[in-house]
Amino acid sequence: MKILIKSGIVVTQYESRQADILVHNGLVSQIGDQLTGVAGIEEIIDASGKYIFPGGVDPHVHMHLPTPAGYSSDDFLSGSRAALAGGTTTMIDFVTPRRGQSLIEALEQRIAESSAALTNCYFHVSPVEWRSSTRLEIFDCVRRGIRSFKIYLAYKNTVGISDETIMKVMKAVSEAGAIVIAHCEMGDEIEEMRNEFAQEGLTSPFYHPLSRPPYTESNAVKSAIDMATQTGCPLYIVHVSSLESLSYIREAQQKGLPVYAETCPQYLLLDDSKYEGTFEQTAPFVLSPPLRKQSDQQALWSALADGTIQTVGTDHCPFMLSQKALGEDDFRKIPNGVGGVEHRLALLYTYGVLQKRITLNQFVKLTSTNAAEIFGLSPSKGTIAIGADADLVVWNPHAADIISSKTHHQHCDTNVFEGITTHGRPDYVLKGGNIIRNSPGFQQ
Ligand code: URP
Ligand code: ZN
Ligand code: ZN
Repeated sequence: MKILIKSGIVVTQYESRQADILVHNGLVSQIGDQLTGVAGIEEIIDASGKYIFPGGVDPHVHMHLPTPAGYSSDDFLSGSRAALAGGTTTMIDFVTPRRGQSLIEALEQRIAESSAALTNCYFHVSPVEWRSSTRLEIFDCVRRGIRSFKIYLAYKNTVGISDETIMKVMKAVSEAGAIVIAHCEMGDEIEEMRNEFAQEGLTSPFYHPLSRPPYTESNAVKSAIDMATQTGCPLYIVHVSSLESLSYIREAQQKGLPVYAETCPQYLLLDDSKYEGTFEQTAPFVLSPPLRKQSDQQALWSALADGTIQTVGTDHCPFMLSQKALGEDDFRKIPNGVGGVEHRLALLYTYGVLQKRITLNQFVKLTSTNAAEIFGLSPSKGTIAIGADADLVVWNPHAADIISSKTHHQHCDTNVFEGITTHGRPDYVLKGGNIIRNSPGFQQ
């Protein structure tokens, strides 16, 4: 298939310039001022007045995640459809083995589960224990193309691991040439606070953020950085939500340590006032770490602008209200997570670029380039260059939408961004050189 995208403003991390793009055999084959005389073009897209972005790379999604409240409500088909609708062509999800199960068996199972995905799909693998075979399994995963291993400092009863195990994982991962990614919250302290609230009968979602104050995140960030420093392991900290965490991350980066950070649209745009109201109003916002204060939002925006934070992922993990209702009498039982895979680009474009908090080139770095580089997907992904995969978004800056669970593609009966206006939307999304609108399974 040969497609000519004409007269768009091509945006990469380095520049924005008007050009034509020729797509052939799934790749970007030419970029030029006015490409003429090309034979065999099957489709021409007029992109004048539009931006061309590299397809979005969302480094943090949980499709079809098993929890005591059932699976997260988007499976790989519905979640990837929502991702594409918003301009994300690549998602990185997680492999979480059962304790006792090998990383390789769990990886193979998860790859099979993701076969319905309409986007490109890659994985982080989570060692949830240390067994005699774990080191070799980590090396085997890397041979199979895995570049990142996730550890949880929280959730000690399920996937969380001790500091001793974390150090072993970090050592093996660094020797294997990969990176550790970390959910940083102090699991034991949080568990104690949650239980104290519950014992006092304080069981509504209002107490969720109070049981996970910012220091429980920032102390865990500090501890993860210390362990990474001792083991020489590159570290990526997921869903950073608080101002306090940023100071430890900045300090490590200033020392030249390979420490990277991610935040999510919910932490940039929503605050803890969302926990005031009825159960139905507040339960959809229960996620971990919880929503913080407006001062944290401002600090996160500054960290995007000054490069302390490299990526914006979504931590997409939606649940139906009926699933959240499992914790109606006890906030500890509410499944944690919110959706957003569809809205990442539009939210960051509207509230980042248009509000002049970040440039268009930073937008591309934060939504695509940096994640591709950190997780070993570049130079095929994350940029627009001759020879790169033709994962492209033709972005119409004149379009406007109001986010609603009534109209979104995500499979969920609530949306934490309900009622928020966005500007900009993909007119076309190409994945591997194919225009996605025409792909089976994708309905606009
Ligand atoms: O509350 C959240 N973030 N749920 C998804 C799983 C995780 O912790 O990343
Ligand atoms: Zn997490
Ligand atoms: Zn997550």
